[in-house]
Amino acid sequence: MFLSDTFSVNERGHLTVGGCDTIDLAGEFGTPLYVLDENKIRSTCRMYQDSIQQYYHGKGCALYASKTFSCKEICRIVQQEGLGLDVVSGGELYTALEAGFPPERIHFHGSNKTAHEIQFALDAGVGHFVVDNLTELHTLDAMARQMGKTADISLRIKPGIDAHTHEAVMTGQIDSKFGFALETGEALEAVRAAIALQNVCLKGLHNHIGSQIFDVAPFQEAARVMTNFIAQIKKETGTAIEELNLGGGFGIKYTENDQPVPYDAYMREISQTIFQNCEDLGIEIPYIYMEPGRSIVGEAGLTLYQIGSVKHIPNVRTYVSVDGGMTDNPRYALYGSEYTVLAAAQPDAPATQTVTIAGRCCESGDLIQEHIPLPQVQPGDILAVLCTGAYNYSMASNYNRVPRPAVVMVRDGVPRLAIRRESYEDLVRNDV
Ligand SMILES: Cc1ncc(COP(=O)(O)O)c(C=O)c1O
Repeated sequence: MFLSDTFSVNERGHLTVGGCDTIDLAGEFGTPLYVLDENKIRSTCRMYQDSIQQYYHGKGCALYASKTFSCKEICRIVQQEGLGLDVVSGGELYTALEAGFPPERIHFHGSNKTAHEIQFALDAGVGHFVVDNLTELHTLDAMARQMGKTADISLRIKPGIDAHTHEAVMTGQIDSKFGFALETGEALEAVRAAIALQNVCLKGLHNHIGSQIFDVAPFQEAARVMTNFIAQIKKETGTAIEELNLGGGFGIKYTENDQPVPYDAYMREISQTIFQNCEDLGIEIPYIYMEPGRSIVGEAGLTLYQIGSVKHIPNVRTYVSVDGGMTDNPRYALYGSEYTVLAAAQPDAPATQTVTIAGRCCESGDLIQEHIPLPQVQPGDILAVLCTGAYNYSMASNYNRVPRPAVVMVRDGVPRLAIRRESYEDLVRNDV
């Protein structure tokens, strides 16, 4: 009823997530607390797999973008649902391997992979490298040669698309640190370089135009540009590109104002563009990878906070201070991201005031939301910030030596711990 079907209200009038009472969750596990609904995550994974099956006749696969939220439990869940995995660092790779994720189904991204990370991935038997730049291409080739291996790769391409989203999460335009630009000829040069090398095998092309996108048109445009490039490569080099990774980026509903396109419609319309363009160009339909992240976990989660103080500043504003903040959710501080905030014990109560939700860090910018409606609340009350499953835990920090919150996974009304709350001992573990 609130944004995502995982959130509801029970007979006590409390907000629930995945069938669990949020007040009970806060009491049992403490606050701040991230909570994710496993069934919601699984059903979105299935939707992606089903629509790839339907629209690409099984010639494709979804990869979960683990930067969105990485821990062993989410790796196990997406693996069980048949998805592959996108990792962007040695740490995300290590997490996946520790969870038992098959390395051959892992795609290793990153705009500046270190030699150490490349070696780690080669040793682990990672199935696919998404190469960002020529230095990486040559390093990977040399390292694979030393090991007597050939690494399957795709090249990350900047298709030159404006994705109509926040500039901090826009990645497909020429002025982006990610990948090879098409317009400058750099991408074709990289293709030629990859073909000439012995220990990398150029399988595919990759593009990701940005995140939190509410429009199908930029995805369709990217699909057209990429399939055109596949045809150009075939013509100019004779090499058939077998795989096309279309990235992630589908928008989710953080507030009632957000109007995402239903994912199935995105999938259908993009596939139609690909089929049509490949037919017009006379090329084979490539094997399609999609890389959703936010849309898999974002709406499945919320964060619970306890209010510590309420400060009315006459004629200025009312600060409601909570026991977390930019350390567990830096997105408002980074991008001014909007969220829906509810009083967990009375989510249906009409708003009677406009407040700013402040975090506990020593930064005036440590805010969760500004000027939002809320009913009367007092110290000790629990607040719920909805749709925090993506880019929250994964972006959390220990600023002010605040321990990271726990993550609880709920399923059919039963909660279980997925990540323990950090302790003070954890904070000094690496101090010498
Ligand atoms: C290469 C790549 N793939 C996939 C994603 C996931 O995007 P989203 O969470 O918007 O689906 C990202 C996010 O930035 C990305 O950089």
